[in-house]
Amino acid sequence: MKNVISIDQFTKQDIDNLFATARTMKTLVETKGGDDRFRHKVSTNLFYEPSTRTSSSFAAAMYRLGGQVISINDVNYSSVSKGETLEDTIRTLEQYSDLIVLRHPQVGAAKRAVQASQVPIINAGDGVGEHPTQALLDLFTIYEEQCKIDGLTITLVGDLKNGRTVHSLAKLLSLYDVTLQAVCPESLAFPPEYGKVINFTELTDVLPATDILYVTRVQKERFDSLEEYEAVQGSYTVTNRLADTMKLSARIMHPLPRVGEIHFDVDNNPRAAYFRQMRNGLYVRMALIDMLLS
Ligand code: ASP
Ligand code: CP
Repeated sequence: MKNVISIDQFTKQDIDNLFATARTMKTLVETKGGDDRFRHKVSTNLFYEPSTRTSSSFAAAMYRLGGQVISINDVNYSSVSKGETLEDTIRTLEQYSDLIVLRHPQVGAAKRAVQASQVPIINAGDGVGEHPTQALLDLFTIYEEQCKIDGLTITLVGDLKNGRTVHSLAKLLSLYDVTLQAVCPESLAFPPEYGKVINFTELTDVLPATDILYVTRVQKERFDSLEEYEAVQGSYTVTNRLADTMKLSARIMHPLPRVGEIHFDVDNNPRAAYFRQMRNGLYVRMALIDMLLS
C-alpha cells in the first residue's frame, strides 16, 4: 500500500497486520518512548481544516519513530492564500518531505493529491467523504475494549450524513459480522453508499442491546445556515443516566471534539472509552507511518 486514501483499500489481513504493528508500537512507547527508525525522514502535515488530534497524533507518531515534521496547520499563512492550487502545493511539499498527511474540505482531495505526488499521501479527512485513519483507530479501540469484533452490536449516533468518521467506520465494519444500527435526525441520515444500517430514532430503544455506542458531533461547518444547524443540534445527548441503561461491558466512543453530545460526567463512567480511543490513535498512526515508509 503506497497511500491511505479510503478504507476500501484495506483487507482483513491488512488490518490484522496493521493492528499487530500498532500493539508493538504501544509497547515501544510504553517501554522506551520510541525509536530512531525514521531518523532523517520528514513528514508534512498539510491541514486545510482545523484539527487537534489528527495533526498532533501524526506529528507525535513521526517524532516517536525518530522523524521530523513540517506543520502547515493553517493554510491561510501558506501560499494557498495567494491562490496556489492543491496540486502545486503538493508538488512543493514533496520536494521537502517523505510523506504528506492531508486534511481538506473537498471530497476526493486526497485522491487528487495522490495524482500530483511522488511521496505517499495519507487522507486525514476529505470534507464529508472519509477519515480512514480514524476508522482504523476506532476499530483498534473496539478490539482492545471488547477483545472481538464479530457478534457485536454497534450503534452510530448523531450526524451520520456529514460525519466522515462514520462513513469510513461503517465501510470497515462491513468486513465483519456486526449488527450496525443508526440513531439520527431524519435530515442527517446515513448515506447508503457507505453501507447498510438499521435505522432508529430513539436512543433509549437501542441502548440496552448496544455493545459500542459511537457518538458524533453535528458537523456545524457543513450546514448552509445556522438555523438548519440549530434545528438538529442537541437532538441526542448521552448522560450518565442513559449510559447506565447500557450493559456494563458496553463502551461509549466518540472521535471528538464533542460539543455537548456527551455530558462531562459520563467521563467517569466505566463505559467511557473516548480518551483511550484518542491514545490509540498514536499507536495506529505509528503503525501506518511504518507501513508506508518501511
Ligand atoms: N474530528 C473528526 C473529523 O475531523 C470528527 C469531528 O470533527 O466531528 O472528522
Ligand atoms: N478525531 C479527529 O479527527 O479529531 P481532530 O479533528 O481534532 O483531528
